[in-house]
Amino acid sequence: MRYIEFGTQKVKVSEVVAGLMRIPEMSTAELELLVETCLEEGINAFDLADIYGGGKCEENIGKLLAVHPDLRDKMWIQSKCGICPGEYTIFDFSKEHILESVDGILSRLKTDHLDSLLLHRPDALMEPEEVAEAFDILQSSGKVLDFGVSNQNPMQMELLKKCVKQPLAANQLQLSAAFTPSINEGFNVNMEIDAGIVRGAGIFEYCHLKDIVIQAWSSLQYGYFQGVFFGVPKYEKLNAVIDRIAGEKGVTNTAVALAWILRYPAKMQAVVGTTKPERIRESARACDFTLTRREWYEIYQAAGNKLP
Ligand SMILES: NC(=O)c1ccc[n+]([C@@H]2O[C@H](COP(=O)([O-])OP(=O)(O)OC[C@H]3O[C@@H](n4cnc5c(N)ncnc54)[C@H](OP(=O)(O)O)[C@@H]3O)[C@@H](O)[C@H]2O)c1
Repeated sequence: MRYIEFGTQKVKVSEVVAGLMRIPEMSTAELELLVETCLEEGINAFDLADIYGGGKCEENIGKLLAVHPDLRDKMWIQSKCGICPGEYTIFDFSKEHILESVDGILSRLKTDHLDSLLLHRPDALMEPEEVAEAFDILQSSGKVLDFGVSNQNPMQMELLKKCVKQPLAANQLQLSAAFTPSINEGFNVNMEIDAGIVRGAGIFEYCHLKDIVIQAWSSLQYGYFQGVFFGVPKYEKLNAVIDRIAGEKGVTNTAVALAWILRYPAKMQAVVGTTKPERIRESARACDFTLTRREWYEIYQAAGNKLP
């Protein structure tokens, strides 16, 4: 496994992160095996959100920690808040909501602190002063050690930073070999084609510039939760190239697809959402090698992208 230094705590956090969005139906025994497999492979980072499974995902980890309290110190746990689902979903970065959310997260997880808290999706009504107050309270009470965001652009992060004094350690953004709008915009500056449409406002370059960790979510999916791109006819060429490179390196397609994400030269983490221990082991292999520049570009173009 490879590690990055994260936030103010400078904890060594694994580049492959176990995403725990798809665990609401898992038993404690199944989860124990999943977590133990991660730890055996050197994966010490675990990603949650208060809305995953309507709170059940955090509850399930809490049940595991209740029977195995020794696991807590081995796990770097991150969660997110700010989305309130409903008929009319709202995004809420008010001080009150952030503080209440963290109390809920900690009680479901049965832990006294989060290693990292992310604001889940940008709230257009965000008052950065309120976020700053909430973060100060959470930091001084020891409930949250580091802070970050998800799905934000550079200007939204700058707006937050006007008031928030803690460094924004991470931005969790969608990225896979089959989902690359932020990379496309960088290749096609000032071009008239659709690939040149600025969707992320230079967020990848901004994170690289500011040493903010990019956490790639849905790292094997295409579209918006349309499924993994492995075996999908639309991505036949991409799969052929990934399979060939996997064969050359003696790893699986999963490892190559994740290595493609980790090759981006910022501080990178790939968040994987598998519930299967064997796929956790395959994912960890992504850190055993580094793709060449030529391999990286080949995968990018095999996904259907064109260079100018
Ligand atoms: N910040 C955000 O807005 C945001 C949004 C979405 C997700 N996330 C985070 O990112 C994490 C990962 O997202 P994700 O779950 O969408 O990522 P993913 O790793 O791309 O997808 C996981 C899904 O793909 C399946 N899968 C994996 N390998 C496969 C293979 N070789 N063949 C067939 N199916 C395979 C898994 O099934 P098995 O379980 O059977 O392996 C699972 O259902 C989440 O857990 C969450 O922590 C963040």
